[in-house]
Amino acid sequence: MKAARLHARGGPELLVYEDAPRPDPAAGEALIRVYAAGITPTELTWPETYRTPDGHERLPTIPGHDVSGVVEALGPGVSEVSPGDAVYGLVAFPRDGSAAEYVAVRAADLAPKPPTLDHVHAAAVPLSALAAWQALFVHAGLAAGQRILIHGAAGGVGAFAAQLARWRGAHVSATASVRHHDFLRELGVEAAIDYRTTRFEEVLRDVDVVLDTIGGDTMERSWRVLRRGGTLVSVAAPPPPEPARDAGVRGIYFIVEPSRVQLVEIARLLDAGEVRPVLDAVLPLARAREAFERGLAGHVRGKIVLRVDETEAIP
Ligand SMILES: NC(=O)c1ccc[n+]([C@@H]2O[C@H](COP(=O)([O-])OP(=O)(O)OC[C@H]3O[C@@H](n4cnc5c(N)ncnc54)[C@H](OP(=O)(O)O)[C@@H]3O)[C@@H](O)[C@H]2O)c1
Repeated sequence: MKAARLHARGGPELLVYEDAPRPDPAAGEALIRVYAAGITPTELTWPETYRTPDGHERLPTIPGHDVSGVVEALGPGVSEVSPGDAVYGLVAFPRDGSAAEYVAVRAADLAPKPPTLDHVHAAAVPLSALAAWQALFVHAGLAAGQRILIHGAAGGVGAFAAQLARWRGAHVSATASVRHHDFLRELGVEAAIDYRTTRFEEVLRDVDVVLDTIGGDTMERSWRVLRRGGTLVSVAAPPPPEPARDAGVRGIYFIVEPSRVQLVEIARLLDAGEVRPVLDAVLPLARAREAFERGLAGHVRGKIVLRVDETEAIP
């Protein structure tokens, strides 16, 4: 099969488009014929990209943790999916990803592809939407009527978080550069703040939840916008305990986990038009290097997706 692979730890410059062995599905796994693969710009720096689940080095490695495709074959003991099913899902981190013509995935992590989306749009969903869902509803317990500030709301995670928070009935403020502001208002953001010209902590107070997808100085300045008893949940970096304690708030970091149940619920919202995937760019698999370079250059709006099956229409 064709795949985009790295043979050493590094950046997009080390990605090569080449022939690779087609994976065999192990017990509990499904082999997926990949139609489209979503990438996360930072994933080439993650330790899991180069490790097996038991901690051994894993090279060469195939990136891409969002998949949309069709079940081709099953390993022993799979009951969740059948050959021919159109599925989407999050490929677990310490294993080869979806930037390839085939990927083996734990069948329990897959859900039916939302029927109203083509594969390219479906591949923009799993990792970002699950991260947003888990941040808002599992870790922060966001409720209707609460106020949330989302940092990096135009990015992969942020664009889903803004829509899911609005769907839950929360009041959404968001940071992003000004060119994204009209777009963010379409997603349901009530107050868009240009992080380049406005210090968000000078215009916001008593927020119930902060979702931080940026980290660093952005996280440091976020404690003071929370009400006592509020929650800062970060996907960017673990919050230090002291400022959370001093502000009387919770600081949470987590790593997104695959969830078939949540993907089924997210598919229902996608099919109902309550939320939609946002595509920054769609490139063919052979241009995976360019896709990562584009993502790492910053300022993306939504997800970058690799089109693997050339017969799938470009949206
Ligand atoms: N822990 C987990 O499970 C998990 C899961 C997914 C992602 N992540 C991590 O979460 C982070 C975000 O991922 P992503 O895929 O959503 O990112 P992304 O798609 O690359 O988007 C980042 C967004 O932030 C904006 N931005 C940059 N600097 C900003 C600032 N100072 N304030 C506000 N917005 C700013 C960018 O555009 P503009 O500058 O034009 O506004 C862009 O829209 C990454 O570090 C990624 O590794 C973690």
